[in-house]
Amino acid sequence: MNRLFLPRLLPALLAAALLAACVQTPPAQSLSAQASSSPSTGPDTAPTLAAQQERERYVSELMQRMTLQEKIGQLRLRSVDAGPNVDKEALLQEIRSGQVGAIFNTVTRPGMRVLQDAAMQSRLKVPLFFAYDVIHGHRTVFPIGLGLASSFDMDAIARSGRISAIEANADGLNMTFAPMVDISRDPRWGRNSEGYGEDTYLTSRIGATLVKALQGDDPSQPGTIMAAVKHFAMYGAIEGARDYNTVDMSPQRMYQDYLPPYKAAIDAGAAGVMVALNAVNGVPATADPWLLQELLRKQWGFKGITVSDHGAILELIRHGVAADGRDAARLAIKAGTDLSMNDKVYGKDLEPLVESGEVSMAEIDEAVRHVLRVKYDLGLFRDAYRHIGRAEDDPADTEAESRLHRADAREVARRSLVLLKNEGDTLPLKKQGTIAVIGPLAKSQRDVMGNWSAAGKARQAVSVYQGLAEATAGRATLLYAKGANVIDDAEVVTYLNEFEKDVEVDSRTAEAMIAEAVQAARKADVVLAVVGESQGMAHEASSRTDIVIPESQRRLLHALKATGKPLVIVLMNGRPLALEWEHANADAMLETWFAGTEGGHAIADVLFGDYNPSGKLPMTFPRVVGQVPLYYNHLNTGRPFDPENPNKYTSRYFDHENGPLYPFGYGLSYTTFDVSDVKLSRAEMARGGQLTASATIRNTGRRDGETVVQLYVQDPVASISRPVRELKGFSKIFLKAGESREVSFEIGDEQLGFYNAQGRFNVEPGKFNVFLGLDSRAAQSASFTLH
Ligand code: BGC
Repeated sequence: MNRLFLPRLLPALLAAALLAACVQTPPAQSLSAQASSSPSTGPDTAPTLAAQQERERYVSELMQRMTLQEKIGQLRLRSVDAGPNVDKEALLQEIRSGQVGAIFNTVTRPGMRVLQDAAMQSRLKVPLFFAYDVIHGHRTVFPIGLGLASSFDMDAIARSGRISAIEANADGLNMTFAPMVDISRDPRWGRNSEGYGEDTYLTSRIGATLVKALQGDDPSQPGTIMAAVKHFAMYGAIEGARDYNTVDMSPQRMYQDYLPPYKAAIDAGAAGVMVALNAVNGVPATADPWLLQELLRKQWGFKGITVSDHGAILELIRHGVAADGRDAARLAIKAGTDLSMNDKVYGKDLEPLVESGEVSMAEIDEAVRHVLRVKYDLGLFRDAYRHIGRAEDDPADTEAESRLHRADAREVARRSLVLLKNEGDTLPLKKQGTIAVIGPLAKSQRDVMGNWSAAGKARQAVSVYQGLAEATAGRATLLYAKGANVIDDAEVVTYLNEFEKDVEVDSRTAEAMIAEAVQAARKADVVLAVVGESQGMAHEASSRTDIVIPESQRRLLHALKATGKPLVIVLMNGRPLALEWEHANADAMLETWFAGTEGGHAIADVLFGDYNPSGKLPMTFPRVVGQVPLYYNHLNTGRPFDPENPNKYTSRYFDHENGPLYPFGYGLSYTTFDVSDVKLSRAEMARGGQLTASATIRNTGRRDGETVVQLYVQDPVASISRPVRELKGFSKIFLKAGESREVSFEIGDEQLGFYNAQGRFNVEPGKFNVFLGLDSRAAQSASFTLH
């Protein structure tokens, strides 16, 4: 059940004190402590009935005084990149006449103040709220979504969310368009980087954790922002992974695999929902009353605000469901799209639509009520400057070093790195001798932050080279060569550089760059090749038909391999890549995703063993692109392929192996772990009951380390085919060398049931298989019967 936050009814004195607190950026040290001491505090208490009634009374009373034009104004979200000296007279005039409800893309308090001043000059003085894409950090950038997910560490993820909220609110912001919980099984999609991978359970846990971390107990309080979960719904299932494409999906898959993460975020109290750009089964989400009303509000009880994606209402014309702007506005408002992001149709067309009777006043009122509730919950009616603060308290320098949370970013980033291969204990490296650091991403401060890096500044990010240089200062010699451009294809470079300089192209020939790199490699004891994708290659509008490392860098890798020096590949990328050659030829390989502001330090920590890697893959890595979609929780089919017993007429490719290169949940450590003594507390159980699955995990190596114990369940005989296994629990544990510990998981209806085609959750009796292990290939461990 959604629980919107209601402000505490604070006495005026306390409110004034809080205002003073919210306009000062607390010192970084205290924020770390604050962030980790209550990492996932959420709305533990539902708002009292009296508080809810008070809010409804306030909003209704305000709406009674609003003209139709003023109501429509509340439904418009304008994108404004306003600096301190905003000189946008037309915009200010719009705000003064009550034609704008909220703003996004303004990220400084002076900029916001000018706009809020204009709102305070409007007839009813309805305050604006301010939104921004705070996706994986704000001033401090944390690892991209896939990296956060790889940590399998809810405390670390919550910490990233708390700090994002603290920093964003210190800049006056009230809402973020996050978390992005679109399940994706196709690495070709550039937006995989923003989400948390292929698994429904993991993504649901992360979505809920982030919502609570961002919003805290009460988003009217300093250090919190509202979360608008996105993209509702199923954007990650677009055909061919070509961005903005169509989704067509069976109800079972929709309910079972794709919808639960949005629901989990809403149950955690998400104040907003961003509506997806795509159509599902022919109906664009922005115009889908079933999605936005029947499912979201009636079935799930959502009380917050829905926001269209950028320009999505007008796009209904090109989707082929609206004849013109007016038609698009009609469809969107009737479907339940409350706030219109950056298009003009609501402002222009809703009024005549109401006058003609095609849209009712009740439909407008419903949407306006959702917007005003958000403003009420943010405390803006008590004080429109509550989050913006007073001018004299504005930070002198919004980009000041003191506003960053580097220690937290480094800690979270280390946990997000996944060791894919480590032959002959190549890693960790010793801080001695000569190390050749090669590759177009090695010195990049922009790429290490990843895309959607919000208000982060590249010059404040730590490149891999810098991290290594600091770690080895005075002890080892570092040699550097760029070795290759990220990509040599001129057309692709032009595409990637269209809105932001993404790829720097060296004027030297590829041969000259490789020759320089090989020379450096020959002088070194070990070669670190920092290769992969530029941040812009794994972004919105960055779908690929292939998922290999670009040709220019592969040629470099081949040349480095030919030197015979130990080769460590340090990957930077925002999607699973096809790495067959790299796996076969590298001595060690570390997946670093885009690790954020402190990425270089975190990567050095892992490469030198100051932190023992513990990340696990949240997405399957296929061998070749032709295998996609490839995901661990697939159905068995009537003719499953058995590698032990290969048979032509089974579900397989004849030109390549079936399985992944690296499975979901996979990741190595510098130590080894063993799972034994798997048991269930009962062999039989009645529906509604609970049993415990447990196992002993032992650190069998010589180093302390963390691993992620994973619980998978299978319903082998059901009324519809069920996946070969599904993740239903995990626990990240730390074990000293030689230490062992019992880990247990509760299993009940929630872990055993599934959604049928009618969207009903069924728990069917019969046998269940339980798997406990350290990745999704975990061997079958135990079974029980459900009655
Ligand atoms: C993206 C959203 C984002 C919005 C605002 C759109 O293009 O799809 O995820 O929140 O822009 O920046």
